[in-house]
Amino acid sequence: MSGSLDNRKQLGLKRPRLDNARSGPMPARPLVALLDGRDCSIEMPILKDVATVAFCDAQSTTEIHEKVLNEAVGALMWHTISLQREDLEKFKALRVIVRIGSGVDNVDVKAAGELGIAVCNVPGYGVEEVADSTMCLILNLYRRTYWLANMVRDGKKFTGPEQVRDAAQGSARIRGDTLGIVGLGRIGSAVALRAKAFGFNVIFYDPYLPDGIEKSLGLTRVYTLQ
Ligand SMILES: NC(=O)c1ccc[n+]([C@@H]2O[C@H](COP(=O)([O-])OP(=O)(O)OC[C@H]3O[C@@H](n4cnc5c(N)ncnc54)[C@H](O)[C@@H]3O)[C@@H](O)[C@H]2O)c1
Repeated sequence: MSGSLDNRKQLGLKRPRLDNARSGPMPARPLVALLDGRDCSIEMPILKDVATVAFCDAQSTTEIHEKVLNEAVGALMWHTISLQREDLEKFKALRVIVRIGSGVDNVDVKAAGELGIAVCNVPGYGVEEVADSTMCLILNLYRRTYWLANMVRDGKKFTGPEQVRDAAQGSARIRGDTLGIVGLGRIGSAVALRAKAFGFNVIFYDPYLPDGIEKSLGLTRVYTLQ
């Protein structure tokens, strides 16, 4: 979460300018807006008893209703909309933005902090799915599954091992081959664990992790990308 007092101190940011609507007492039933996208099926059961939820389905703040800009205390956002300083300034009562996802590239976090708006994300969003998809693509490159399946779909008949070998040209054995991972965070380490199980020799580059992490995960650490 950014925009907290501690973060502000660390970043040397100015004291936030709090509009009255932002600093006054919280309304009994605050207005929360889902700015873009239509899915808030996880959040809705929690919010429905304590807040009024507005679905904006907007691509930019020009499409957001005046009432939401004036009264929304919380905003949920996917990745379609972007909130730069001039967008954030349009929200008169906003206190918190929640990115439904891990990246906050589409929010000017510094401007939000200066305006007294906290920005939260969901760091664990999709970790396993991204790691699974990453492995799926890597396995496909090694085992050529996509191209072989396409050949069969296009009517190719295999009459013997020679033909299969020709068709699968470019496929390679995984066991003992080296997979390099840049950034061994949540997703990187989830990929590393999966890749190890397939027999890859996994190496990684991540200068920000403490010494010894390679030992606890049974990986090989490298200190340069060259
Ligand atoms: N497409 C999706 O659905 C999806 C879902 C989740 C995350 N993501 C993205 O995937 C990326 C990784 O997410 P995560 O949750 O694993 O993040 P994370 O913060 O857990 O891990 C990032 C790792 O990268 C390392 N790192 C930072 N700078 C580096 C550098 N210059 N060289 C090497 N390593 C460096 C950090 O030390 C950290 O260990 C993020 O950009 C995130 O936004 C995408």
